[in-house]
Amino acid sequence: MKNKQFLMIPGPTPVPESVLLAMAKHPIGHRSSEFSEILKEVYENLKYVFQTKNDVFMFASSGTGAMDAALSNLVNEGDNVLSLVLGNFGNRWAKIASGYGANVDKIEVEAGQVINPEDVRKKLAEKDYKIVTLTHSETSTGAKTTLKQFAKSLLKQTQFLLLTELQVFVPCL
Ligand SMILES: Cc1ncc(COP(=O)(O)O)c(C=O)c1O
Repeated sequence: MKNKQFLMIPGPTPVPESVLLAMAKHPIGHRSSEFSEILKEVYENLKYVFQTKNDVFMFASSGTGAMDAALSNLVNEGDNVLSLVLGNFGNRWAKIASGYGANVDKIEVEAGQVINPEDVRKKLAEKDYKIVTLTHSETSTGAKTTLKQFAKSLLKQTQFLLLTELQVFVPCL
């Protein structure tokens, strides 16, 4: 990692040489048993990394690609979506949902602020929202929502809570 350019922003992250070298290897067949074994191991290890027993999904896309995949699979035209907007990336959720024909309402706060869970509870009591979107750690403003209790009560009032967290630290593989 010596003599590398370090960008002091949320990404792109510096990649260790060992990982770069592994990626320079010739590809193997993506339907081969060799690939299946590697994939199985990676999925298992990701559970350890994220400290979960639940399924972990990998997306060969940017963060926005994963947001788009989540919404395109869940939104039907005319669905009500509530977007909790702390900044640029919260707004991105809202834009993508609108693109799929959702009726999007927003709760928006000024840069650096977080949304009061009570405001969300009230809004959800007014209308049937199928989906709530939220950027956990809004990198465009630096504001982070404390989710622990909030998420549980949210899920009682809506079907899906779509959440992005792009600041997760993954130890070097
Ligand atoms: C909080 C957050 N959400 C979404 C994105 C979008 O990710 P990408 O640029 O990989 O599409 C970013 C990217 O910096 C981000 O920081």
